[in-house]
Amino acid sequence: MSERETWTSRVGFILAAVGSAVGLGNIWSFPFQTASNGGAAFLVVYLLAVFLIGFPAMLGEFVIGRRSEQNAVEAFRSLGFGEWSVAGGLGVVGSFVTLAFYSVVGGWVLSYIVGSVTGAYLGDPGAYFGAVSAGPIAVATHAVFMALTIGIVALGVTDGIERATKVMVPAIFVLIGGLAVWVSTLDGASDGYSYYLSPDVSVIAGDLAGIVPSAVGQAFFTLSLGFGVMIAYSSYLGRDDSLPADGSAIVVVNTLVALLAGFVVFPVLFAIEGAVPESGGAGTAFTALASAFSQIPGGQAIGLGFFVVLLLAALSSSISLLEVPTSFVVDRTGYDRTPTAVGLGVLVAIAGVPTALDTGILGWYNDVVFNLLLPLAVLVIAVFVGWVADDQLAEELDLGSSFGDDFSTVWLWWIRIVIPVAIGGTLLLGIQSLLVKAGVLSAPVILG
Ligand code: TRP
Repeated sequence: MSERETWTSRVGFILAAVGSAVGLGNIWSFPFQTASNGGAAFLVVYLLAVFLIGFPAMLGEFVIGRRSEQNAVEAFRSLGFGEWSVAGGLGVVGSFVTLAFYSVVGGWVLSYIVGSVTGAYLGDPGAYFGAVSAGPIAVATHAVFMALTIGIVALGVTDGIERATKVMVPAIFVLIGGLAVWVSTLDGASDGYSYYLSPDVSVIAGDLAGIVPSAVGQAFFTLSLGFGVMIAYSSYLGRDDSLPADGSAIVVVNTLVALLAGFVVFPVLFAIEGAVPESGGAGTAFTALASAFSQIPGGQAIGLGFFVVLLLAALSSSISLLEVPTSFVVDRTGYDRTPTAVGLGVLVAIAGVPTALDTGILGWYNDVVFNLLLPLAVLVIAVFVGWVADDQLAEELDLGSSFGDDFSTVWLWWIRIVIPVAIGGTLLLGIQSLLVKAGVLSAPVILG
């Protein structure tokens, strides 16, 4: 078997992980979730979830990955806990299902790039969304997006993922920063900002049972946790890197991009009156933005920039989702990476076809991931790190770290107690909300 690759530099790892984290979750879902859930009040809940639950959980994946130098499944076996490989198996399934619908939305983004160039959505944004979001066009663009993803992963960890994210992540920053400055000059920008961030505690108080699990789910999703991406990525890492320092950098940068995305989206929507979508269905962001782009000065160019950012963000995330099953099969069987990535990518593409034909099915994939698979996967990893693995993992956190061993002691207790309790509660609320949506429960029972 050929030797396992490693990142060529610390920055390479950080950019790859930021690339995974920054995605549709930051630029497409985050601003709308914030705006419709009470603005700055939601932001507080979300930031708490990111820093107090997401960040320590991310460190949990880092120690597993770096200690074992293995993919998400073999990692548990090589640490001496073969029966916990099911945790990694859950990650493989989770990343597979997530990528299946994520790449469909990636395909929509491709259609909107084309539409920004040709002006195709300018006349009737609603009809354009209908035409590209479900049906043959959606299947085709989904396939193209998967082909791009497969291409990068097939090239390898350093020549594919590291090289691609080194270009994509800085480009995302420059473009989204530039767009935020540009749109600040639009009429209505300040109304947009205040809509985005004005705290409305009553919204949160009124729907705690819905908002808490969505904030926690969003935190896990945006940090790419649970499904072993961070295990796989940190397995290509050297011992002298500080995991807490790298993890903080990743979390902070990811949060900044999400916040910035709101500073692009809301001035645009407020530049034309009453353009903020009422209920945030999957397509509202696309139709509302497209209709704003068709009316504001320079809208087509801003739209092109925006959808290019969205594409770069989506691609640098989708490659991490494909890397999870790919690294598993490559490590396990010694097959060549290229045919493995192609074979798995084709399977994912096939699994995504139903979601490309029906946005309702896409919504179901999404809900199952957010409310069930994701919190469950993070919970299992936290229990493993906190209660099952011996002290080797807390030691691993200290290697190369200047945070001191008090930090790792607090972290260990945090991951033992606080995280399982927080996620257990979230999971109950998440299952409840699935049951409410499916009509099994007529109203939330807990926190209802
Ligand atoms: N974090 C990405 C986003 O915000 C999505 C993503 C990539 C992801 N890899 C993941 C989500 C692993 C969960 C698990 O769009």
